[in-house]
Amino acid sequence: MSAKIIDGKATAQELKNEIKIEVDKITSGGSRPPALAVVLVGKDPASQIYVNNKRKACHALGIKSVEHLLDAATSEKNLMELVTALNNDNDIDGILVQLPLPKHIHEPHILEHINPLKDVDGFHPVNVGRLVANSTGLRPCTPAGILEMLKRSGQELSGKKVVVLGRSNIVGKPTATLLLHESCTVTICHSKTRHLNDITSRADIIIAAIGKPEFVTAEMVKPGAVVIDVGVNRTAKGVVGDVDFEGVKKVAGFISPVPGGVGPMTIAMLMYNTLKAYKGLSPSGH
Ligand code: GUN
Repeated sequence: MSAKIIDGKATAQELKNEIKIEVDKITSGGSRPPALAVVLVGKDPASQIYVNNKRKACHALGIKSVEHLLDAATSEKNLMELVTALNNDNDIDGILVQLPLPKHIHEPHILEHINPLKDVDGFHPVNVGRLVANSTGLRPCTPAGILEMLKRSGQELSGKKVVVLGRSNIVGKPTATLLLHESCTVTICHSKTRHLNDITSRADIIIAAIGKPEFVTAEMVKPGAVVIDVGVNRTAKGVVGDVDFEGVKKVAGFISPVPGGVGPMTIAMLMYNTLKAYKGLSPSGH
């Protein structure tokens, strides 16, 4: 048996088409388009690729993209001042400060300075708290993209055993929280977890977000399980995920590839969050 492919690229395109329809309605009514400010400090090559992809997605959907490219030596004070200016700019709806930041800048200082209503990354403690409380807020893009992919590929989530590999603030913890709110039974595993294979081989759904190339192998996966690969590992043989795709696809029921899986969904959810920030948060909205 070979797993069905969960096509993140196609799903992201579907979502972007829906967003574009809304943006077109806004602008054809004479209003200004939603606007996203992206701040990049320094010239990290991977970050430059992400920022380019974000710009392209904005342009394709009619969302205004404003970029602030700062020197690697920029002080924390200067960056704080830029964030203040963007917070106060009524023509900016979303603010994204690309991570990682240079070592001399304390990331939490910057992330906590972004207005939570413009925090399209969902990293501000207010949005983290709202996620945990399952109340209105901006959700982190990769976890929200994973959830959307699962739902749009027709997965029933309620009551399912999910294993999340990785406990980062950006992916592991928020993904586990979102899936808990879908009534999954969630286990978070990490580098100190014992008897990992025993745990993963009982899972209905595995989310791999540990940053180790091809770490998840066929023996770790229950036949028919859903496997979502969040890894982006640059290796001698090119970019590979955290899942041994060729081996695991023989036992899994569904699998998302790298590239073309979670990556495009993350960008689509950023566009979704920018539109949501533009519209303002409704009392009951998610
Ligand atoms: N660097 C890697 N992933 C992310 C992300 O989701 N948001 C930001 N701001 N920086 C990142």
